[in-house]
Amino acid sequence: MQLILRRFLLVLLLAAAPSALASDLTGDWTAAGPRPDGGTMHLMFRFKQDGTRLTGIVSAASSDLAIVNGQVNGDQFSFAVQLNFGERSRTLTYGGTVKGDTLEISAPTPRSDAPVHLTARRATAAEVAANWPERIPPPALHPVPANGLARTPPMGWNSWNHFAGKVDDKTVREIADTMAGDGMQAAGYVYVNIDDTWQGTRDAQGNIRTNDKFPNMKALADYVHSKGLKLGIYSGPGTKTCAGFAGSYGHEAQDARTYAAWGIDYLKYDWCSAAKIYQDGDMQAVYQKMGEALRATGRPIVYSLCQYGRDGVWEWGPAVGGNLWRTTGDISDDWKSMTRILVDQVGLEQWAGPGHWNDPDMLEVGNSGMSAEEYRTHMSLWCILAAPLLAGNDLRTASRETLDILENPEVIAVDQDALGQQGHRVTLSPNYGVWAKPLAGGAQAVALVNSSDEAATVSVEWKDLDLKGPCQVRDLWAHADRGRQADGFSSNVPSHGVVLIKVTP
Ligand code: GLA
Repeated sequence: MQLILRRFLLVLLLAAAPSALASDLTGDWTAAGPRPDGGTMHLMFRFKQDGTRLTGIVSAASSDLAIVNGQVNGDQFSFAVQLNFGERSRTLTYGGTVKGDTLEISAPTPRSDAPVHLTARRATAAEVAANWPERIPPPALHPVPANGLARTPPMGWNSWNHFAGKVDDKTVREIADTMAGDGMQAAGYVYVNIDDTWQGTRDAQGNIRTNDKFPNMKALADYVHSKGLKLGIYSGPGTKTCAGFAGSYGHEAQDARTYAAWGIDYLKYDWCSAAKIYQDGDMQAVYQKMGEALRATGRPIVYSLCQYGRDGVWEWGPAVGGNLWRTTGDISDDWKSMTRILVDQVGLEQWAGPGHWNDPDMLEVGNSGMSAEEYRTHMSLWCILAAPLLAGNDLRTASRETLDILENPEVIAVDQDALGQQGHRVTLSPNYGVWAKPLAGGAQAVALVNSSDEAATVSVEWKDLDLKGPCQVRDLWAHADRGRQADGFSSNVPSHGVVLIKVTP
């Protein structure tokens, strides 16, 4: 009898064991897998399993999202999260299989339909602590003295728009060589900025090290400096950057000293995973912490805030030592994205000035998602906005047409005008817009933009610019004088094109 009972129990156990083990997902998991763009997707999952019900959190680089509709069925499971982009929202559904000690998970990506294949394993205590660190209280607010840099909007190049995770030492050197040789440097572009994905791990003393793509950052800075250019770098106040690399959390002063020792001249500081530790209302203090740390190094380092225009950053950006701050989410290489950003800039002009600029994000000129006409509009409007001009294309292979857009001296002069006043929208109709920027000495730069699908006449009257005629008109793309005009100026403008003029009373 006892033997039968024991056998029966054993059979029961054996039958139950695989699925019981397979379906016990409760706990923290770390997952990674290759993204279609060549990067790696990193996620953490905090699962709580209750029978067949699965709840918990999907933890990405910049947000923790609550799991909805989670289900476990034997060794199969699925769950979803709700993503909100402003008013739009999207459900991302994950599916997975338990394979021994690991989970195979098919993960959707927010911007494409192709899922990424992730392998997840149980997270170590250190990994859990790194993902959900204790909150270090941000410092009390006090103004960081201005560093005196960026008297006109910074000009340079940044790796992200074209290279994303594929930037390395060799590419940066080649870009610097090209900038020194192709007229970019002569046109005023100075900063060579490495964006996300240069970071390695920290050493035993907590010093940040580069990864294999950047064998020696000091040597790279020396090289860039030898060309008369300056080197920029990227980090963020969270534990991780947006691409999942080490952030500066808890190492702010140490990282600032490291950058200064390497010879870094520009820091872009990106919020990202700080959102898992801090509220938007903490942003000013958190950005002040790095602003103060940069100042304490004694090295002149341009400080670029990147928190997508949240928390009214233009109101406090200068007080934290910021030289520029992003006013929007990320640009993408299309007309819709570029013009959507443009609309968001209306009303921000009062906050820009010498030393502190609104940043509507980097240029897409030459990245091939827009026509040359559209890129001229993009460039013209960024100049009207007194925006930082950070080329985001592969300069090594840029066409003459692209370089002519980026390097036009008369157009750049609008951006770099000494008055430092950001332009504003003068008139708007569904099909065209007129934007104007006051220049030193009383002239104005005026962009006549045609947003319609056909060529159209776009006009401006001097009285709309608070100017009295007659005014001298010069076409800045055509490099041609258009004579003295009594009351205003009209021009035929191609679809999605611009006519950029300088109006001198
Ligand atoms: C964010 C920023 C981008 C870029 C990426 C890098 O999305 O807004 O400009 O720096 O992070 O991961």
